[in-house]
Amino acid sequence: MKVMVVGGGGREHAIIKKLKESAAVTEIFALPGNGGIAADAVCVPVGAKDIDGMVKFATQNKIDYAVVAPDDPLVLGAVDALTAAGIPCFGPDKNAAIIEGSKVFSKNLMKKYGIPTAEYSVFSDAAEALEYVRTCPVPTVIKADGLALGKGVIIAQTREEACDAIKTIMEDRVFGDSGKSIVIEEFLTGPEVSVLTFTDGKALVPMVSSMDHKRAGDGDTGLNTGGMGTVAPNPYYTPEIAEICMKTIFMPTVEAMRKEGRPFKGCLYFGLMITPDGPKVIEYNCRFGDPETQVVLPLLKSDLFEIMRSVTEERLSGTQVEFSDGYACCVVAASKGYPSAYQTGYPIDIADDVTENVYVAGAKKENGKLLTSGGRVLGVTATAESLPEAVKKAYDAVKKVNFENMYYRKDIGKRALMAIGKDK
Ligand code: AMP
Ligand code: GLY
Repeated sequence: MKVMVVGGGGREHAIIKKLKESAAVTEIFALPGNGGIAADAVCVPVGAKDIDGMVKFATQNKIDYAVVAPDDPLVLGAVDALTAAGIPCFGPDKNAAIIEGSKVFSKNLMKKYGIPTAEYSVFSDAAEALEYVRTCPVPTVIKADGLALGKGVIIAQTREEACDAIKTIMEDRVFGDSGKSIVIEEFLTGPEVSVLTFTDGKALVPMVSSMDHKRAGDGDTGLNTGGMGTVAPNPYYTPEIAEICMKTIFMPTVEAMRKEGRPFKGCLYFGLMITPDGPKVIEYNCRFGDPETQVVLPLLKSDLFEIMRSVTEERLSGTQVEFSDGYACCVVAASKGYPSAYQTGYPIDIADDVTENVYVAGAKKENGKLLTSGGRVLGVTATAESLPEAVKKAYDAVKKVNFENMYYRKDIGKRALMAIGKDK
C-alpha cells in the first residue's frame, strides 16, 4: 500500500520509521518531510498546510492511506478534504480537531461534562480581562484561544505580568487571531504526564505514558521550547492514576465529543497534571506529541499501520495494541540559541550505528550532505529494560552525533530517575 505522511519533523520521522515495519506498507511519501526523513521516505515538496496540494498529490499518485500528523492541517480540515477525495486518513476531521484548535471550546467541553481541569474564565474583551486580573489569585495562567506554535500559554507570577500577557495577546495580537479570545485559568501544581491515545470515536486505547522536558535549559530553566527530550513510561503515571484517568478523563472526553456531534478519530493527546486533588487536564492535542512520539512509538510492538486503519474503520476495540515493558529516552539536539535566534547550514555527522535511532526534525539535504536547517535538529532515542539504562544509552548515542553549535540538555530523564530513587 502507498502511504503518505503529512508533516516534516521528528514526530513524522518516528511515525514513518514505524510504518516501514508494517508488511502492508510498500511505499511512503512525506509531505514535505525533511533531509533526514529522505532516507526513509520519498519527500514531496508540498507544505503541511497546503491542503489543495496534498489532495492533488494523493489523487494523482493513487495514495491508499494518509496520516496527517501536525496540528495546523488537522485544524484547517486536511482530513475532511482528503476523505472527500476518497483517501482514507488517520487523524480527526476539522470538527473534532477543534479540541486543540480552540482552548475556549475545550475548556467549555470539560466544564459541561465534568472532566477535571483548572478553574477558568473566558474573555473576548481586553478591558474585562484586565479588570479580572486586578483581583484574581496569582500566579495565574493566560492562554490564547487558538493555535500559537506552543507559545500561547503564559504563566504570570504577578498581576503586572498578567496585564502584560493580556495586552500582548489581545491588543498586540502577537499570535494573530488566535488571541481574539483568551482563557485565564487557575495555576495548578504537580508532575506533568503526557498520555497519547488511539481512539476511533468509541473505544480508546492509551499508549505508554511519557514525560516531556519543555524548557530549553538544564534544571527546567530558560524559555519554553517545542520539547528538548522525553522519557517513557512516566513514573508518576502509576496504575492507580491510569485507572482514574481512564474513568474520569479519557472515556468521558471520547463520549463528550461524540455527544457534541464531533466524534474524535485519531491520536488524542492528554496533557495531564497530577495535582494533590488528582489528575487534571492541562491541554488536549488532536495529534501525536513531539517529542513524545519519539519515545512512545519505539516501544510499540504491534503494527502501527494496522492500528491506524482500525481507527479509520472504527474497529479499534478488536485490534491488538501492545507495548513492550521497556523504557525509552529521547534527547533532542538543537542549534545553539534555540528557541531564540540560531544559525543553520552546518553539516551533520551521524555515526552509522546510531542512524536507526535518530529522528531528524530540522535538516535539509544539499549536494548529498545533511545540513542543519532548524532549531530542533534531531532527536536520539534509546530503548532499554530499565530507565537508567535507557537514559545512559541515549546520552552515549548523542555523543555519536555532531554538528557545529550543537546543544542539548544534560538532564533529560533526571526528574523521572529521581521519582524512582535512581538518580545519583
Ligand atoms: P501548553 O502550551 O498548553 O502545553 O502549556 C505549556 C505549559 O504551561 C504546560 O506544559 C504546563 O507546564 C504549563 N501550564 C499550562 N496550564 C497550566 C495551569 N493551569 N497550571 C500550571 N501550569 C500550567
Ligand atoms: N510535546 C508537546 C506537544 O507536542 O505539544
